[in-house]
Amino acid sequence: MAPSKKNILPLVLLFLLLPLSTIFLFSLSPSNPKSQILPQFPTISTLNPGPNFTLLIKVLTFNRLSSLSRCLNSLSKAQYDDINKVHLHVFIDHFLQDFQNGSADLDNRLNLSKKILDFVDGFDWKYGEKFVHYRTSNAGLQAQWLESWWPSSDHEFAFVVEDDLEVSPLYYRFLKAVILNYYYNASNFSPMIYGASLQRPRFVPGKHGNKMHLDSGTHLFLYQLVGTWGQLLFPKPWKEFRLWYDTHKAKGMKPYLEGMVTNGWYKKMGERIWTPWFIKFIHSHGEVLTNRIVRSPDELRSVLQSVQKNDTVIVISLYRVSETIVRNFLCHIERLNIRNYIFIGPTSRFLLDLARRGHPVIDADQFYDISKLAKSFKFQNSVMELIKEILVEAFVTKKCLELGYSTWLVDGNMIPLASDLFLNSFEQTNDFVVGKSYRILYVRSSSAVLKIWVDDFIHEAATLVNTLRKDSVSSDSGLFYAVEKILRQKSIKYNSMDERRLGFDINIADANQTSPGNEKKFAFWSSETELDIIQRQLVQLRLWVVDDESSCTAVVCHPS
Ligand SMILES: *[C@@H]1O[C@H](CO)[C@@H](O)[C@H](O)[C@H]1NC(C)=O
Ligand SMILES: *[C@@H]1O[C@H](CO)[C@@H](O)[C@H](O)[C@H]1NC(C)=O
Ligand SMILES: *[C@@H]1O[C@H](CO)[C@@H](O)[C@H](O)[C@H]1NC(C)=O
Ligand SMILES: *[C@@H]1O[C@H](CO)[C@@H](O)[C@H](O)[C@H]1NC(C)=O
Ligand SMILES: *[C@@H]1O[C@H](CO)[C@@H](O)[C@H](O)[C@H]1NC(C)=O
Ligand SMILES: *[C@@H]1O[C@H](CO)[C@@H](O)[C@H](O)[C@H]1NC(C)=O
Repeated sequence: MAPSKKNILPLVLLFLLLPLSTIFLFSLSPSNPKSQILPQFPTISTLNPGPNFTLLIKVLTFNRLSSLSRCLNSLSKAQYDDINKVHLHVFIDHFLQDFQNGSADLDNRLNLSKKILDFVDGFDWKYGEKFVHYRTSNAGLQAQWLESWWPSSDHEFAFVVEDDLEVSPLYYRFLKAVILNYYYNASNFSPMIYGASLQRPRFVPGKHGNKMHLDSGTHLFLYQLVGTWGQLLFPKPWKEFRLWYDTHKAKGMKPYLEGMVTNGWYKKMGERIWTPWFIKFIHSHGEVLTNRIVRSPDELRSVLQSVQKNDTVIVISLYRVSETIVRNFLCHIERLNIRNYIFIGPTSRFLLDLARRGHPVIDADQFYDISKLAKSFKFQNSVMELIKEILVEAFVTKKCLELGYSTWLVDGNMIPLASDLFLNSFEQTNDFVVGKSYRILYVRSSSAVLKIWVDDFIHEAATLVNTLRKDSVSSDSGLFYAVEKILRQKSIKYNSMDERRLGFDINIADANQTSPGNEKKFAFWSSETELDIIQRQLVQLRLWVVDDESSCTAVVCHPS
């Protein structure tokens, strides 16, 4: 916080003295920062000199000579080694011109700047080169940080220190170990690790966020937040951030992120601080490390165990659902705190991206070897895709039921509006609930159902594809329609659920309707609706909650 804390930014002082946290920053997920504990890194062999990287220490200072001298002395007393060059860059901000104050005050300031320059000039730095940047006008914190570095190679790292900090003599050894283990060691490397902070990790910037709980044995963990006290920056992500910032700032965009404490800071302080920009950047590049892609029934078991709620899972079909619709959907289920879902869809870059961001996903093309079964069908290719879709959805449902989970199968062209939608909204006197518009299907995991939903049932559902065609039923309704037909044929009792009563069909909304109404549990539309019409309707109904980069406009913290 060097430059302006004391004289210009009392608010920053206050806020940032509250512990801002972080050890490792990595890009995020769409909710409040998440942390993940890392294994201790192995002790580093001193015999292995490691790669030849350069560390640039960026000291940001302003007008506090005694802090600066304490900071620089601690840096020079630390333990370095002979292998890697460590250069010292000191950025001295200029005082603000203020003509209201008298000339004595001005002389004072000029004298103080001179003293600081004299001190820095006389300061001996043995571990590399010393470089001093003395500004001609007041830059403020944002520019001091952002302009302090543009990496000149992928083997150059920056360690940013504000002048009110004092480092441990072992700080460099720690940073070097982090660099060797998480940047240069291929088995631990992750593009999601953006750097490391030496700050005590306590700060949770999500409003009403839960306190962090780390056991005393944990020294390293991943966290979606930048620290401002002793921050090590990795070159590639920093460049990416600088370019992102440029684009967004130049186009007049603001780093607003509702639900974050930092949003309020930004509104008060605007461009004097930079962390809201970085937080927004991480949020829009969101990633978590847990890859939750399901490619086999065995993998399904462990993923469902971790997502189920009250032994119930929601399988959301992504066939014919566009990417932005899914992103918007995710913001809604995050707000409603619905976590017992799993997506199913054909292999795509987008599907893998969802999994990489920590959303449970079933890769339909790999989950089930359809080719064998599909060959036994004598249909034209035009319906083959639909047959595959019905087969895999029915097969996944069967596996869920076998694992003991009651299963909701829903079409992704919908938005839940109530958190109890998948709990007690519908009459469930029977083991099956089928939506009249074929958008929703509930199947209870009971011993009776397990005897019904067997391979023959799946096969029969798929063979109904021609009837489906004949009755010109939409592809979205494939399995739902087939299931109802079979249940009726076999005289198995089921409940009918009227989507139009419980839900809100946005296709038939009034042109001036601005809310689906409080009693509605979900909104839905046909996959044949044009994307821009869906979007326009959802904007009007205030259900469009993603920004231009398809990330949620707000984050929400829920009690754990
Ligand atoms: C590391 O690289 C620097 C600059 O390229 C060079 O001056 C130095 O000799 C190298 N050190 C080792 C140990 O290779
Ligand atoms: C001008 O002087 C007053 C009183 O000493 C001080 O509070 C104020 O911060 C000064 N102005 C600036 C821009 O530093
Ligand atoms: C600033 O330094 C000059 C030269 O050392 C000295 O004459 C002057 O009194 C100082 N002014 C203040 C306000 O300290
Ligand atoms: C790289 O990391 C792996 C896993 O932590 C470790 O087993 C290995 O010894 C490391 N390699 C080096 C050269 O440190
Ligand atoms: C959980 O499931 C049981 C059995 O179906 C039901 O009685 C109970 O009400 C459910 N709990 C919640 C919170 O829905
Ligand atoms: C919607 O607009 C129509 C025609 O402009 C008007 O008659 C109707 O009252 C409006 N409905 C509402 C709820 O404002």
